[in-house]
Amino acid sequence: MVDTKKYIETYEEKLRTFKKSGLSLAVRIISTISLQREIDNNIFTNSDPNIYIKKIFDRQNSYLDIMNHFIASIHLNDSETENFSAQKEGDARDDLHIELFNDTWRTLTLSDPLNNYKKWIDVIKGRLKLNNLDRKFFTGKKCIDIGCGTGRFSFCMASLGAKVWGIDPGQKSIEFAKKLAVEMKIKDTNFSVQNAYNLSFTEEYFDFATCNGVLHHLDNPGKALQEIYRVLKPGGKFWLYVEGSGGIYHDVWDIIQKSFVGIPFRDTFEIIKKLNIPDIHLWMDIFYAKYHFISFEENERRLRNMGFNNIQVMKSSELFDIDVSMFPDDKDVKLKFGDGGIRVLATK
Ligand SMILES: C[S@@+](CC[C@H](N)C(=O)[O-])C[C@H]1O[C@@H](n2cnc3c(N)ncnc32)[C@H](O)[C@@H]1O
Repeated sequence: MVDTKKYIETYEEKLRTFKKSGLSLAVRIISTISLQREIDNNIFTNSDPNIYIKKIFDRQNSYLDIMNHFIASIHLNDSETENFSAQKEGDARDDLHIELFNDTWRTLTLSDPLNNYKKWIDVIKGRLKLNNLDRKFFTGKKCIDIGCGTGRFSFCMASLGAKVWGIDPGQKSIEFAKKLAVEMKIKDTNFSVQNAYNLSFTEEYFDFATCNGVLHHLDNPGKALQEIYRVLKPGGKFWLYVEGSGGIYHDVWDIIQKSFVGIPFRDTFEIIKKLNIPDIHLWMDIFYAKYHFISFEENERRLRNMGFNNIQVMKSSELFDIDVSMFPDDKDVKLKFGDGGIRVLATK
């Protein structure tokens, strides 16, 4: 059986020999991006992880060796950045997270063909459609999108006839969402700067709530969940997506994140822009956003403890949704993805 831990440790050790700025930082970025890409190219197939994990890490390790020699041979003196961001491993990162999304998700514009914002709206549309959350379901419903970012879930619900309130503590994201609503001529959206920990709405105001990819970033997810429960009507539905724990995929994610601890995210952002790497918002998320992965059982327990019931697992539409039920013939699915991406619809 593949000893992923051993490969990860060797890779981490080699990464550690690179400084955290300049050319060394570019090497970190290029290596971790190609590591993640190679994992993505293999992990969604039925091939044996014992074979490709070794190959992938061997390749990355030899790339790091070559770059180490190269940097040493040109006597490049990459000065270490002394003034690191407050971010340290294990630190509370709610504030960093809000800043990160404020700055990076706005790279998704309506006009840029590579980072086309519409593509990311379509991902949500696909998921809603697959789960029969259609025009009939949404028409006339009052919906809240908690941690709406630049609003793609809100736009989907509004285009299906809902009246939508999108909230996010990221001021720039909210401004951007408002601008997009005008550009796309989507009515019935109402965006405001608010924090999930303290919503301005009265009890039982909404028929539907969504919190898509937010709770796993929060230092206090229970408090946010309490607020969501409060503003939802009895019988109201709650769409939740959180990232599940376990598996090689999440282990790789973890080492990539560790590699960027202590590097201000704006340095990395500038280098990725200069390297012209598309999907910059996704890379910045993989490198910096804090993830508290949760098991399927723990997530369900947390929802039930809050008072939610009838917790139904939602179907996924894309491979990168990492829905473990999408790979029924893969005997290694647990080893690879753990609990994968968890998407449920719960009832208050
Ligand atoms: C991965 S993004 C998801 C955005 C959106 N839900 C989507 O699916 O496109 C996570 C979002 O959570 C927001 N967030 C972070 N802390 C928050 C908090 N305390 N309350 C509400 N939202 C928060 C971030 O600002 C960011 O926009």
